[in-house]
Amino acid sequence: MTGPAWFSVIALVQSKGGVGKSSLSRSLAGHWFAIGHKPALIDADPEGRLIKRYNPEGPLGGVPVLAEPEERVADVIDELRGRHWPVIVDTAGFRNRTTISALVAADLALIPLKPAADDVDGAVDTYNLVQEINATPERRGRPLQAAMIVTMTLRGTVIARHVRTQLESAGYPLLRAEMPHRVAYPETGIDGLSPSTVDPDGAAAHDIAAIVHELMNLEMHESMKSEIHEQRRASA
Ligand SMILES: Nc1ncnc2c1ncn2[C@@H]1O[C@H](COP(=O)(O)OP(=O)(O)OP(=O)(O)O)[C@@H](O)[C@H]1O
Ligand SMILES: [Mg+2]
Repeated sequence: MTGPAWFSVIALVQSKGGVGKSSLSRSLAGHWFAIGHKPALIDADPEGRLIKRYNPEGPLGGVPVLAEPEERVADVIDELRGRHWPVIVDTAGFRNRTTISALVAADLALIPLKPAADDVDGAVDTYNLVQEINATPERRGRPLQAAMIVTMTLRGTVIARHVRTQLESAGYPLLRAEMPHRVAYPETGIDGLSPSTVDPDGAAAHDIAAIVHELMNLEMHESMKSEIHEQRRASA
């Protein structure tokens, strides 16, 4: 069972820390595992938040977590690509060379942000970093795609809507699905688990399913479509 052909490596990145990267990484992996895929997690954060809580004997033991907080992360991504789908890379909460290496090797950059001004700034900086990477010879014709996602939203607050309008009107790619503020995330995280593993019918598992649904239906980047079209034409 595989997902969309155009992405197999998702990097969770944000230059602002504490936005939910590790929780979302593990939750996405937990969802894909629960529905029969073979995800793998790479912990590219020197803090090692995923690897510290990984329990090979537990219900998420079948989702391998590999720690690679240095620039060799691209090699680890290459090793896992093909054997696992998707490969999800959790990065540090600040910009470092490992994050850049992970981005260069990824297909999709998922940029979480809480509804707060500093998070918006961090998300925009991170989006700009993706565009810088796309301008390098390594990524020409094979652009890394980016999507922002709002996390830890509280119902009935105006700020989340404000942030959404601000980013959308400026033309940034923002998922419609959100990762709301729910205790299920920190609670399941204690044992390195995810909502879809612990309570598949719960609200948090439904949030993650909606995020995955939207990711699976993201359109391939236009320039990549034309590249593939050119390749097909050339080989015809
Ligand atoms: N949707 C959520 N609802 C409630 N709490 C959350 C949610 N997502 C994450 N948290 C909690 O917020 C804190 C930060 O989340 P997390 O560690 O996933 O962020 P991070 O971006 O990986 O942080 P860092 O930059 O430090 O690596 C954690 O205590 C986590 O349990
Ligand atoms: Mg983290």
